[in-house]
Amino acid sequence: MGFKDELAYVELVKKDVTFGHFINPDTIRSEPDCTDLIQKYRIAAQKRECDYTQHRQLFSNHHPFIDYVEKIVQCPHPNIEQCTPKYYADLIYYLHCQPEIRHICEVGVFLGGGSAYLAQFAVERNLTLDLIDLNIMFLGYTYERILSIIPEAAANIRIFHGDFPAYIDAGHLTKQPKQTVFAQFDASHRFPDVVKDMTCIGKNQAQFYAFAIQDTHLRSKLIEAEVFVDLAVQAVFGSRMSYVEIGTQTGPKAYNFPNSEWMLYTRPNAPEGILLELNRNQPEYFGN
Ligand SMILES: C[S@@+](CC[C@H](N)C(=O)[O-])C[C@H]1O[C@@H](n2cnc3c(N)ncnc32)[C@H](O)[C@@H]1O
Repeated sequence: MGFKDELAYVELVKKDVTFGHFINPDTIRSEPDCTDLIQKYRIAAQKRECDYTQHRQLFSNHHPFIDYVEKIVQCPHPNIEQCTPKYYADLIYYLHCQPEIRHICEVGVFLGGGSAYLAQFAVERNLTLDLIDLNIMFLGYTYERILSIIPEAAANIRIFHGDFPAYIDAGHLTKQPKQTVFAQFDASHRFPDVVKDMTCIGKNQAQFYAFAIQDTHLRSKLIEAEVFVDLAVQAVFGSRMSYVEIGTQTGPKAYNFPNSEWMLYTRPNAPEGILLELNRNQPEYFGN
């Protein structure tokens, strides 16, 4: 989908009765008789098996991540992971080292690449994982895919149809103890949307322990697509924000994504993602 079509789609989705609410996965209007989840949720993604060789090569058996991978490999439903194995591994490793975290929000799930790892962590720690996405079919697919990997996760996962500002406006985090929430963002990559997401974090700083955001290395040659994730984070948390880089690092040359309607490329020598802890950062922009 090109970015103009996507903008139109977003406006349409915001009119759905389910937008801004947690939904019961059984109420999603899917094709209930299909066993193939891609068909069941009428997803226009090409079926592609994920190759887990790299995951296994990169991480020793002692890394908690590899236990999760071994379960995911058994899953009958294919996945197109949107982040690198290193990004997921860094995320899981970080979470394992932070006993303070009691609640996770994952914003932007697509076909459950990151969710499959986060759900296993949520079960292990017995904490809540809220899956948030604009696309209700992706939420349905991700939910079922997770349960096929780890059925116990049903007790830990909720699915929210909407964007992060809608989730925050609905007050879902106000009862969380201070500094116990972690958010993972891989949703809209457009500057104004990411600024809104970051502003939500800034305004609710007391609740958040940390957040991670992917695609900080991404740009679009179409200036009107406004793909500036890293700069949107800086717009809210300032140019001197304190963070760690996660995932891979791009090489010295820009890489153009082939057949990308958004004309995406990665900027040179840039991190795939970053992770910020809220007790080390102060928002400098609060919106209205
Ligand atoms: C790159 S994909 C996410 C990939 C996923 N994190 C993974 O690990 O494979 C982006 C997702 O964000 C969703 N999305 C786009 N804009 C959004 C927004 N403003 N709020 C919430 N979700 C959004 C899309 O529907 C899509 O599912």
